[in-house]
Amino acid sequence: QPVKLNPLMQMHQDAADFYQQILLTTKIGERGLNYARQRELDDELLKHFKIGYAPDRRDLLLTYLKEQGYTDEQLAESGLFVQTQDGRLFDRFRDRLMFPMSDETGHPVAFSGRRISDNPDEPKYINSPETSIFNKSDLLFHFSEAKKHARKEGHLVLFEGHMDVISAYKSGIKTGIASMGTSLTQQQVYMIRRITRQVVINYDGDDPGIHAAERAVGLFKQAGSFDLGIVILPDKLDPDEYVKQYGAESYQAAITGAISTTDFFLLRLKKKYNLNNEREQVAYLSEAVQEIATLQNPVEQDLYVGRLAKETGVSLDALKMNLSRARRRQR
Ligand code: CTP
Ligand code: MN
Ligand code: MN
Ligand code: MN
Ligand code: MN
Repeated sequence: QPVKLNPLMQMHQDAADFYQQILLTTKIGERGLNYARQRELDDELLKHFKIGYAPDRRDLLLTYLKEQGYTDEQLAESGLFVQTQDGRLFDRFRDRLMFPMSDETGHPVAFSGRRISDNPDEPKYINSPETSIFNKSDLLFHFSEAKKHARKEGHLVLFEGHMDVISAYKSGIKTGIASMGTSLTQQQVYMIRRITRQVVINYDGDDPGIHAAERAVGLFKQAGSFDLGIVILPDKLDPDEYVKQYGAESYQAAITGAISTTDFFLLRLKKKYNLNNEREQVAYLSEAVQEIATLQNPVEQDLYVGRLAKETGVSLDALKMNLSRARRRQR
């Protein structure tokens, strides 16, 4: 028999079960199920991720949870409802596909609801507000499950959103976690470090995703001693879209082909400069060499400098001279 949960945790468990029942077994849930099918979520995935549907009603969940005996005060502080001026409660999530977000022990403590209608005035996602059981800066989607698999696989894969975690899971990558839109926090980085030092970052391939990946690399480096890989998907695709378009095998290959943070940096740097112009090429090389100089391993330094020489036609000797200067400066 499982330990008794505190009332708010129990309420979230009940709400998740309720939403899933609606999705899988009711007429009113068909709209949610159609959307789920459109997103290629089969029953096994829906069950594994405890996905549900909140119909377009103002007090469906409210009525159900009252019947379960929860007090008005408990309901008000759960985050599952919005409160009017005069204190009345209404279901916060309406006509949304519901993704429970669980704490480190696997118990749901919050929800993220995906808009089903194509009404652009509605936000695409609505998330639970912070409550006594939900602190968004130290929650990672799918963390409790992913960490079990990470023991075997060695690494965790970090995504932007839950649909990416789910598509990766479908493709056989079970170690996916997501920071849920809120940009990654230092607390989340420390949670990850308790499990593994090997992290693959696979944010969306669009500009915001690439910038978020750069920022994430900074946070991991600040925390220290991570072994990072970066995956940048083509055509601004996010992992969910990539899997849909190219399939599981191709996606697995993309993950296996994760590049180093140095390569990621150099790739980004190259885009900043017009390398047909000599002055810009000098500036590019100088910035590149400075980055390479931060590497601890001399073999790694050698490898990257060698590649730079080949790529630009500048002599290896000249680049190595710059490298030792840069290293002296950084000491
Ligand atoms: N997000 C959010 N609120 C929004 C937009 C995004 O909370 N209005 C969060 C969600 O957790 C989302 C993540 O940021 O998963 C990444 O955003 P985005 O790439 O725009 O969404 P997708 O995950 O690609 O969602 P979908 O595939 O359903 O469009
Ligand atoms: Mn569990
Ligand atoms: Mn995105
Ligand atoms: Mn996305
Ligand atoms: Mn997406």
